[in-house]
Amino acid sequence: MSPVIAVLPGDGIGPEVIREGLKVLKAIEKAFGHRFEIREAPIGGCAYDEFGDPLPEGTMEVCRGSDAILMGAVGGPKWDQLGLDKRPEQALLRIRKEFGCFANLRPIIVYPALAGVSPLKSERIRQGINILLVRELTGGLYYGKPKERTSLGNGFRAVDTMEYTTAEIERIARVAFETARKRRKKVTSIDKANILETSRLWRETVERVGKGYPDVALDHVLVDVGAMKLVTQPQDFDVIVTENTFGDILSDEGAVLAGSLGMLPSGSISTGRIAYYEPVHGSAPDIAGQRKANPLGSILTVAMMLTYSFNLLQEAGAIERAVEWVLNQDYRTVDIMEPGKKLVATDEMGDLVADRIGRER
Ligand code: IPM
Ligand code: MN
Repeated sequence: MSPVIAVLPGDGIGPEVIREGLKVLKAIEKAFGHRFEIREAPIGGCAYDEFGDPLPEGTMEVCRGSDAILMGAVGGPKWDQLGLDKRPEQALLRIRKEFGCFANLRPIIVYPALAGVSPLKSERIRQGINILLVRELTGGLYYGKPKERTSLGNGFRAVDTMEYTTAEIERIARVAFETARKRRKKVTSIDKANILETSRLWRETVERVGKGYPDVALDHVLVDVGAMKLVTQPQDFDVIVTENTFGDILSDEGAVLAGSLGMLPSGSISTGRIAYYEPVHGSAPDIAGQRKANPLGSILTVAMMLTYSFNLLQEAGAIERAVEWVLNQDYRTVDIMEPGKKLVATDEMGDLVADRIGRER
């Protein structure tokens, strides 16, 4: 039986970048003789418009019946006025929680061909940057209760709650140490232990889990210092592990170091069988439908899915090599464009990667 992939294109540029991701998946099917069954379902603002819910039950049903979930992007100005529980973003939070997607892996890689579009000085990236940011995805401020607003006569009082348990920290720490073992064997845990109680528990727990990995070096960095070091000494990082909100912020910072948010894929390890994959960029409504979006984040997300859900390492490698080849041939979408390079549209970029996979085999 072929593996089932729930595909949730979403809003804005989501559908157009997912289309290119699937085009590349087709090229892999053809080149390697696989078959995947694709089941599309609505999510986000478009689902709200149609069903009054950004994550309709029918979509959850499709996800439950799948082996992996591939998501595009959600949200846009059209839905900004909705209450918190109807906002398109809620769909993501619910999916992540429902399927236990607690460890979000966000690789921050500066391709040599893109060194010129990185805001970093070239001497800072000469040694290459290859960081794996492991973001806790189902806890912290995003989910903690109470989360509410109460009236105070002259205004309001709003509360969000940052909350972590030992067990939640242990499992994400283990993911960080295990992945570091397959890399350069270094974990940097980022917290705010000088201020936050959750961070103190985080630091103690990561430290204790680290004792079980004597071959992996561990250091702790405060989040403000970490944000700075990511810019001044990016080559010092191997695996970064951090809580949900810090990970959200630092991964966007990391992504622009790599040249563009449009390049960054992500995949989430879950407690269950079904894992969840999404490019890190948002729905970018300002450029939607104009063939300007960079599909490489989505294409590389498909590679992560092949690696982590289906253990198809050769196939994932073929995608990664094809992306690198296309960049080395000077093809660029507008977000990574430089003088003298060849500007291509979203679908042309997808064609180039897909063709290369077919030719290489
Ligand atoms: C991300 C996004 C989401 C997040 C939003 C859209 C809910 O910014 O995946 O980084 O904050 O997790
Ligand atoms: Mn984000």
